[in-house]
Amino acid sequence: MCDLVKSVLVLTILLCAILVQNCDGQSLKKDAYATVPQLITAAGYPSERHRARTPDGYILQLHRIPAGRRAARRSGAPSVKGKKAVLLVHGLLGSSGDFVIMGPERSLSFFLADAGYDVWLGNLRGNLHTAHQTLTRNDPKFWEYSFHEHGKYDVPAMIDRVLNITGLPKLLYIGYSMGTTSFFTMMSERPEYNDKVIAFVALAPAVYLDNIKQLATFALKEVNFPNILRSRGMLSATVAPQLLEFMVGSVCNVRKPQEDLCMRVAYAIVGEDYDQNDWDMSPVIFARFQPASWRQLEHFGKIAMTGVFTSWEDGVDGAIKPYNLQNVKVPVTLLYGENDQLTEKSQIMRLAEQLNSTGVLEGVRAGCSWPKFNHLDFVFAKDLGNLLNKPLIKHINKLYNKYGDA
Ligand SMILES: *[C@@H]1O[C@H](CO)[C@@H](O)[C@H](O)[C@H]1NC(C)=O
Ligand SMILES: *[C@@H]1O[C@H](CO)[C@@H](O)[C@H](O)[C@H]1NC(C)=O
Repeated sequence: MCDLVKSVLVLTILLCAILVQNCDGQSLKKDAYATVPQLITAAGYPSERHRARTPDGYILQLHRIPAGRRAARRSGAPSVKGKKAVLLVHGLLGSSGDFVIMGPERSLSFFLADAGYDVWLGNLRGNLHTAHQTLTRNDPKFWEYSFHEHGKYDVPAMIDRVLNITGLPKLLYIGYSMGTTSFFTMMSERPEYNDKVIAFVALAPAVYLDNIKQLATFALKEVNFPNILRSRGMLSATVAPQLLEFMVGSVCNVRKPQEDLCMRVAYAIVGEDYDQNDWDMSPVIFARFQPASWRQLEHFGKIAMTGVFTSWEDGVDGAIKPYNLQNVKVPVTLLYGENDQLTEKSQIMRLAEQLNSTGVLEGVRAGCSWPKFNHLDFVFAKDLGNLLNKPLIKHINKLYNKYGDA
């Protein structure tokens, strides 16, 4: 397993280095380049754009779907009075788009909007829906963050913005992968935010990552990719647009598991599930991947290597200082994928045990019964609507009924 991951990583990086110089762009489906509001509008839903500002100068776009499809067809602005707000926060390399890209029959945002919720999609610093008041993306300082800052500054700023606009006292928070890491980090560092959250639903929570310890050790210790690439002037983990075009247009577009290299690389890390791969969508999904900071990757690596949900402190080799999970006071539901190799079941059970001991665990279970359900399936599975999101809506209704008035 690990040898495969290593060879694949090395192969990919070599391939990239060779290809990046001489390839012309290929045209992709327009969904690959559509903005999130465009995707929402094209699906027949009302869409709004808002901004949250962090105390350290980042400007984060929030996308909102204030009503369902039927409401959008009526004339006039949809009424949001008395609606319940849900904030969705994406994972590593992701954006608000991850919750809409599979369309109204599959993506969670649309299910929520049709179920009557006021849906808010967050963006964490670093992705292309974010900016800084004074720093540009060419400034190394722009990239000095990990999920620590996402949790300490970005998520609180977004929650405050949503509550300010809606006038609501609280919202329900749904995080996917790093969107859950940010949540736990927020509660550790800013426990007063417990008062602004009704309940937390964690899709593939990324808190313990022992499963990728070898991969992290290889990538950060044996080879140290971040430092090699930093020393070559790459400020962030960003794939050059020409390379991305080439990759998604050809290497990632073979549509046959036997000849595929692209998904195989991803599957080596997140768990294999060709059955739930939508070959029409995978190039679009790859093309929409967002930049990450090196420190984000290094911080996750530190957690994987130490086995501790530790803060960044003074770096990968620096002090180990666990985040305080006991600060979480709201009901938490944890959903794992049976074949998720990145945030693996045993690791999520370890988190569940801790949350259970402080009395906040609402439940822990498989996101769905599909045995190959992997890390990416939580947002991109071919049959996402039936497998995960339909039952999830019922669970969210239940949470609101149980805790919504508190
Ligand atoms: C939203 O923020 C503005 C500006 O700080 C404030 O005046 C207003 O009262 C807030 N509204 C709500 C509903 O919290
Ligand atoms: C949570 O704790 C209760 C009481 O100790 C125990 O019965 C239950 O099995 C635990 N659940 C999980 C998921 O650990």
